[in-house]
Parts: sequence; C-alpha cells; structure tokens
Amino acid sequence: MKVAILGCGAIGGVVARAVQNGEVAGAELIGVVHAEPADPPGLPVLDVESAIARADLVVECAGQRALAELGPSIVAAGTDLLVVSVGALADDALLAKLRDTGPGRLHLCSGAIGGLDALAATARMGGLDAVRIVTTKKAPALIQKWMDEPTAQRLRTTGEPVQLMRAPAREVTAAFPASANVAASVALAVGDWDLVEATVVADPNAPLTSHVITADGSAGSYRFEIRNHPSVDNPATSGVVPHAVLACLARLAQPTGAFA
Ligand SMILES: NC(=O)c1ccc[n+]([C@@H]2O[C@H](COP(=O)([O-])OP(=O)(O)OC[C@H]3O[C@@H](n4cnc5c(N)ncnc54)[C@H](O)[C@@H]3O)[C@@H](O)[C@H]2O)c1
Repeated sequence: MKVAILGCGAIGGVVARAVQNGEVAGAELIGVVHAEPADPPGLPVLDVESAIARADLVVECAGQRALAELGPSIVAAGTDLLVVSVGALADDALLAKLRDTGPGRLHLCSGAIGGLDALAATARMGGLDAVRIVTTKKAPALIQKWMDEPTAQRLRTTGEPVQLMRAPAREVTAAFPASANVAASVALAVGDWDLVEATVVADPNAPLTSHVITADGSAGSYRFEIRNHPSVDNPATSGVVPHAVLACLARLAQPTGAFA
C-alpha cells in the first residue's frame, strides 16, 4: 500500500517517519505534502497532485480546512483517503462527496478516543436516548480566533476550570476545529449529529487531556473515559493520535486478524 501523508505536523510527522522506517507491514511511504516554509528533514516531499496520482492512500493530518479543500479531489481521482480531521465531516455536503461519490474510499481514524465500535453497535441495536462527550484540556490550548480578548485572557490566567461550550456535536466541532474532532467521531459512530451533546472545559490544572463519553439506550449504559498525555509538539493534540493513525494503516494494509 503506497501511502502519502498530507500535513507534516505533530501527527503527520510521526506517522510519516514510522511508515518510512518500515513500522507498518505492507505500507510504503511515497512522501509528505506539507505547507511549511522548510521541508521536513529526512522525508520525501511531494506536491498534492503527485501524491494523489501515485498513492493508494492519502492520510489527511492537515486540519479540517485542508480536508475540505483537498479531500474531494483525492477520492474523485480514485485514491483512498484516511481522515483524522473528522470534524470537517459535520458539513453534510462534504461528507456526501467524500463518502458516497468515490471512486476512492473514505476511512475514518478514531484518533484520540476509543469506544466508537461499541457505540456503533448499540446505536444499531435499538437506538440511544442520550450520548454525551465532555472534553477537558489545558486552558491555553483551547484559545480560538473567534474568542474576544477578555475570554482569551481569562483562559491564559484562570486558576479554575471554565466550561467554554455545551452544545450539539456539530456546533462544538466547528467552534474548536483542532480540539473537538472527537465530538464529530462520536456523532458519526452513532449516526446522529443531533443526539450527541458535547462539552468543552478548559482546566489549567488538568495534567492530561480527558474525554468522558457516556451513552444510554436500549442495549445498556456505556461510559468511556480516555485520559491522554498531550503531544510534545502540539498541546492541542494528544500524543496517541499518530499511533491511532498507524494502527489504522496497519489494518488497511493487512486486514486479516485485525479488529474490524
Ligand atoms: N480525530 C482526532 O482525535 C484528532 C486529534 C487531534 C487532531 N486532529 C486533527 O488533526 C489535525 C492535525 O493535527 P496536528 O496536531 O498534526 O496539527 P499541526 O498543526 O501540528 O500540523 C498540521 C500540519 O498540516 C499542515 N497543513 C495545513 N494545511 C495544509 C495543506 N493544505 N497542505 C499541506 N499541509 C497542510 C500545517 O502546515 C501543519 O504543518 C488537527 O487540525 C485536527 O483537525 C484530530
């Protein structure tokens, strides 16, 4: 499986180097497409057109905007696409283009969280009455361009946790595009954007980034708590995310014997 990586930051850089080092059986790195002034050392660099033409699979690690801009041309060319910026799929038109038009296939990475398989199963069995995800991160990592200066300043200086938003998953993932992709992942797993309520909390004292997912329905009650160390390269991203991508690549390259 020839792999190109779109975006070479905290996630893409780790993924690219691991694939280049042969850590994913059956996968070969053909290059990275990046947008920084300097090329990443030691990695082959491609333009996006060559990546689409040469790769069997493009791995998006570049953000929601890049996925919206480049995703449709990737699948339209018949190249498969693995996505980490799942929140972009809150746009129904984009989701339809990427998932339903092809001929390239769309794959989603579970990223920073787990439990999506159980949520999908229980949603199929008979529906869910309530699904919630509460994300707590270090306060400065949650500052957004749309925030007014007093709010941003409060996040820089607060000694107490601050609840920043509690709203349907679609709204929250749009408001925190680099931090609330997980809300979109839960909504896509249960197949209902309106059912999932997402909350974002800024906590200056949170040593780890946490996601608490709860769901109740006819199949039972579920609670998943994930506590991730932030990436050393990007505090808005959990360090485990590139390894979730590598696990996806391993499944796609050699599906036999893997959890489906
Ligand atoms: N699903 C999840 O659980 C999860 C978790 C964390 C992050 N994410 C998503 O992953 C994205 C990347 O995270 P990161 O920590 O690696 O971010 P990062 O900022 O460290 O790296 C992103 C890189 O992509 C590059 N880029 C942006 N637009 C590009 C384009 N059009 N073409 C090529 N390169 C481009 C940037 O220059 C940057 O180097 C986040 O924006 C977020 O949407 C998802």
